[in-house]
Order: sequence, then C-alpha cells, then structure tokens
Amino acid sequence: MGTAQEDFAAVDTYLIDHLVHEDQALADTRRSSAETATPGIDVTQSMGAFLGLLVQITGARRVLEFGTLAGYSSIWMARAMDDDGAVVTLDIDPAAAQVARRNFHAAGVAERVQVRVGPALESAEALIQEQAEPFDLVFIDADKVKTPHYLEASLELSHPGTVIVIDNVVRSGAVLEQDSTDPDIQGIRALMELIQADERLSATALQTVGLKGWDGFLLARVN
Ligand SMILES: C[S@@+](CC[C@H](N)C(=O)[O-])C[C@H]1O[C@@H](n2cnc3c(N)ncnc32)[C@H](O)[C@@H]1O
Repeated sequence: MGTAQEDFAAVDTYLIDHLVHEDQALADTRRSSAETATPGIDVTQSMGAFLGLLVQITGARRVLEFGTLAGYSSIWMARAMDDDGAVVTLDIDPAAAQVARRNFHAAGVAERVQVRVGPALESAEALIQEQAEPFDLVFIDADKVKTPHYLEASLELSHPGTVIVIDNVVRSGAVLEQDSTDPDIQGIRALMELIQADERLSATALQTVGLKGWDGFLLARVN
C-alpha cells in the first residue's frame, strides 16, 4: 500500500479498467484539454461514465452543462441520449469551445451538442429570455464562485423532476473552512446554504476519492 492518494488512484484505475469503456475519441478529448487555458480539470473517466448512466437512468432528453472544457463530460452525456437528445454546454473560453467542437465531431455527437461561448451566467440568462424548453438534467462544473447563481438560473430552466449535479463540492475537505479566503470555497458554502433553505430541492452530496484526490458531488432533484 502507498500513500492514501496513491491507493485512491490505484483503486480508481482498477475500477476504470474493469468497468469504464473509454474509446479513442474520449481518450483524445481528455488529452486535448491541454489545448485549453485550464488543462486536466475535466471529470474522471468514472465520473464521465456516471453522468452517462444518470442520463440513461433518468431518460434525460435535454441536458444543460455549465463548463465545457474540451467536451469530455458533454460527450459522455450526449452519447447516453437518444437521437433526439440535446446538450447545451456553456463555457467562457473560446479556445476551449473550438477544441470541444472538434471533439464533438470526432465522437459523433456534433449534431446533438451546442456550445455557447461567454460567461455562463449570461448564457443561462439568454436561455431564460429565449424561453428555452426546460432541461431534464443540469451538470454544474464551471467556476465554483458563481455556483449559487448557476443553481438559481438552473431552477428557472428546470421542471419538477429535473436532476441537478454539481461537481467539486468537497475540495479536500476545504468546504468546512468557514473563514476561507478562497472565493471558490465561499461559493460552495453559499451553495450549501442556498440549498438548505430552498424547499424546491431535495438534495444529497457524496464524497469521492480517486485519481483526482478527495472531492465530492452534489445531487439534487427539483420538487
Ligand atoms: C472543470 S472545467 C469543465 C470540465 C468539463 N465539465 C468536463 O468534465 O469535461 C471548467 C470550465 O469552466 C469554464 N469557466 C470558468 N469560468 C467560467 C465562466 N464564468 N463562465 C463560463 N465558463 C467558465 C472554464 O473555461 C473551464 O473550461
């Protein structure tokens, strides 16, 4: 046995090897995040497969994603949908959007995925203005400081039963630091308080360990 992190990574690798099928397009997508401003911060293979399963289990036809990067999580979700499914994914980084579009073509999901470039809150507000058809599943995985605002916007774009997944809510336990000067931590803490007080949502959060250390995701359902 090695350090705790070495063990987490070794077990994650074992589970991925046995359970997760990542084809060439997905592997290339993960590598291509090196061409963006924030390389390597995509979800793990296990989390990508989890998101795909969640789309299948819920039968989601419309997915909204905050934070595209190179398109790794978008591809997992888009591939889990029927042909009439749609993923709208939001990212501020035009270079990332360009890389992601290339990856969507290579993965065979370009018809099903729309990338909107700009600050995610503005893009979400535009969707609200356009009276976009409500989304069945929302994945929030952009800048953590604005996560409470992304959740509020998501509620405007949801229907009863919409599933909302929010990544990176544990951050190696730093979520407990009430005096943290890290705006991302304060964003997650504000998110927790918002959900605690909001009767529109049923929620839980699960801690995770693995290739990307100790973190966790929040799962909510719009009542
Ligand atoms: C964690 S990555 C997304 C990873 C992606 N969901 C995946 O797993 O493949 C976060 C992304 O959020 C984007 N981002 C950061 N701040 C943003 C903002 N204010 N509006 C929109 N996107 C933003 C970054 O450019 C980055 O691509």
